[in-house]
Amino acid sequence: TPEKTFYEQVGGEATFHRIVARFYAEVAKDELLRPMYPEEDLSGAEERLRLFLMQYWGGPHTYSDRRGHPRLRMRHAPFKIGITERDAWLRCMRIALDEVELSPEHREQLWQYFEMAAHGMVNSWF
Ligand code: HEM
Repeated sequence: TPEKTFYEQVGGEATFHRIVARFYAEVAKDELLRPMYPEEDLSGAEERLRLFLMQYWGGPHTYSDRRGHPRLRMRHAPFKIGITERDAWLRCMRIALDEVELSPEHREQLWQYFEMAAHGMVNSWF
C-alpha cells in the first residue's frame, strides 16, 4: 500500500478547514492585516488559502483547477508586505496551529513551511 500523503496523515480537508478558519478569525481582528484584504467578506480568501494548502500537502488539486498555477509571490505583489505584515500573518497562523489537534511533528512541519513561505512573500524592505 502506498504511503499516506501528509494531507491524509493530518486528517484531510477537515483539518485544513479548522486551521484556515481559525487563522482568518484572527486576521479579522488584526488591525494591520484586515485592511489589506480587498473583499469585505473574508470567506473567499479563506477558501482560496484552504484549497491551496490542501493541494500543496498532497490533497486534491481543486485550487489549480479553479485558479491556475499558484504563483503566490506574483499574486501578493499588489499588497505591501514588509517584515511587520509577515510577522502579523505568522502570529495568526501560530494561534491557528496551536489550537488545532495535530501531532507535534506535523505541527512543526507545518510551522517550518509557513515561516519559510511567509518570508518568501515579503516584497517591501523599507
Ligand atoms: C491571498 C496577504 C502570506 C497564500 C492573499 C491576499 C492577501 C494576502 C491580502 C488577497 C486576499 C484574497 O485572496 O482575497 C498575505 C500577507 C502575507 C501572506 C500579508 C504575509 C506574509 C501568505 C502565505 C501563503 C499565502 C505564506 C501560503 C502559504 C495565499 C493564497 C491566496 C492569498 C493561496 C489566494 C491567491 C489566489 O488564488 O488569488 N494573501 N498573505 N499567503 N494568499 Fe496570502
